[in-house]
Amino acid sequence: MAIIIDGKSIAEELRAEIRKEVNELKSKTGKLPGLAVILVGENPASQVYVRMKGKACEEVGIVSFQHTLHHDTSQDDLVSLIRTLNAAPEVNGILVQLPLPSHINENAVINAIDPLKDVDGFHPVNVGKMVIGDEDCFYPCTPLGCQELINRYVNDLKGKHLVMVGRSNIVGKPLANMMVQKNKRANCIVTICHTAAADIGYFTRQADILVVAAGKPNTIRGNMVKEGAVVIDVGVNRIENPTDSAKSKLVGDVNFDEVSKVAAAITPVPGGVGPLTITMLLANTLKAFKYHNKIVQ
Ligand code: GUN
Repeated sequence: MAIIIDGKSIAEELRAEIRKEVNELKSKTGKLPGLAVILVGENPASQVYVRMKGKACEEVGIVSFQHTLHHDTSQDDLVSLIRTLNAAPEVNGILVQLPLPSHINENAVINAIDPLKDVDGFHPVNVGKMVIGDEDCFYPCTPLGCQELINRYVNDLKGKHLVMVGRSNIVGKPLANMMVQKNKRANCIVTICHTAAADIGYFTRQADILVVAAGKPNTIRGNMVKEGAVVIDVGVNRIENPTDSAKSKLVGDVNFDEVSKVAAAITPVPGGVGPLTITMLLANTLKAFKYHNKIVQ
């Protein structure tokens, strides 16, 4: 039976360190880090995420500025808000919650964010730096959370085969890029597979580390995983209960019951990667604050 990776307690440990550092920096500079979070429209999942991000900021002493815009907000108005926040000294990080309504071009909006405030790590300047291994950049939060867990549960990553299932810009592509870099927290052999693979199991059975961000429950079954692999499940899928909507439940992309019998360690859903993602947003905001205040460590 696999070790169940307790993302919640790891996140709490990291948040305590962030809180401590925020306090120390407040004594030193008289200022607190600030994060602006922009939500456009009424997507219920996004509303939950934005609320959780605001609450997490509060817990560690980061000031959160929430901007809720109407679904019909124009792209120009959204971009002008971003420009105002780019110029605001009390704002160290800017996050635009995705997805955006379909009349708004996501790339144009991400491009408008000052790369030095892009705590999501989605701006092409940060993506480009990540790919070439220039660590003076922001890495996206979910891949950072996965990397943290992988480093805690796999020793000596050098030459380990990491198989990434999923090729999104938010998880699959950046995580694969981060884990292939030549540094102590990575140095893996990386394979990316996705929906075009005729037999995903052919790839996943070769993984020492299997990361799954496919967006579909049961993408990975027990017979698709090598004995002793470390499995990171990024999926969040809501399964509705047809008779009682209050009894809907969250599941990942991995069949937990089957895979936990084969793997050495596995993240649960919820309580695995999720708490780490928001923690990394806090860490990136702190990093931005230190950069803007010229604090080197
Ligand atoms: N929507 C889903 N994941 C994310 C994320 O990491 N950042 C933002 N801004 N939106 C998201």
